Amino acid sequence: MIIANWKSNMLKIGLWCEDFENEFKPLGLDHKPYPKSWLNCRMGVAVPTIDVLDMKNYCYYKFGDWYKRGDEHELLFDIGVQDVDHSSGSRTGAISVDMIFEYDCNFAIIGHSERRQLFNEDNDVIKKKLKTLHRFAKDGFDEMTTTILCIGETKEENDKGMTKDVLKNQLEIVNDLQLDSQFTVAYEPVWAIGSGLTPETKDINEIHKYIKDVVQSNSENNLIPKVLYGGSVTDKNAENFFEEEFVDGALVGGASLDGTTFAKIVNIFNRTK
Ligand code: PGA
Repeated sequence: MIIANWKSNMLKIGLWCEDFENEFKPLGLDHKPYPKSWLNCRMGVAVPTIDVLDMKNYCYYKFGDWYKRGDEHELLFDIGVQDVDHSSGSRTGAISVDMIFEYDCNFAIIGHSERRQLFNEDNDVIKKKLKTLHRFAKDGFDEMTTTILCIGETKEENDKGMTKDVLKNQLEIVNDLQLDSQFTVAYEPVWAIGSGLTPETKDINEIHKYIKDVVQSNSENNLIPKVLYGGSVTDKNAENFFEEEFVDGALVGGASLDGTTFAKIVNIFNRTK
């Protein structure tokens, strides 16, 4: 799974999609339509929420004939949100879970370090979001919305050898929860985000295994989650990450702002995994 996180950047959706289309080469297939089921890789774009509808409309119009399966039309990539509120009603400025379901968003990121640091979100509030997303998922929307929970340690915590303790603490929110089958974790060391720095790939692999073990032992249904790596992933370094056994994909920030580069990363994943 490869997810783009556009954050709070204004992009030209048409241009991004054209660049993506020109570069995207799924598994040597050279003609359209590509049935989505032929792709190794689930891919998604977390656009700013205000762009969800534009992105959807553009995708239907532009890529409409790419991925017909029988009479069904499927979007080639999922469209999701970068965060969501845990409640609804009198909460000025917030986007609720029922709104994102109404607009068929396929995934929601929660717990991004920028939300934790800049908007003071703690485990309590992130757990509420997770529970709300899962409540809706249990109501029959399991196929539609994937929760991507971001966790990661700061540089200082990493230097002090506290990484696993910090991650375990952030993962406490899954304790005794019945997780839906699509639940996904993104390991994003805070010091790697936007810095050009990354951990050693073998360390990433070890941490991903650790995350899978912690979630499996602590969730009520012993779910083994998919774990994505995030933090300065580019088309130059992606292959090194994807070669690792427990790396199930990537959450890509800066490098996803360019449709060509994002497509290159998806191509690398399809080749490597
Ligand atoms: P980056 O951001 O790829 O620019 O490091 C990743 C993220 O914040 O999800």
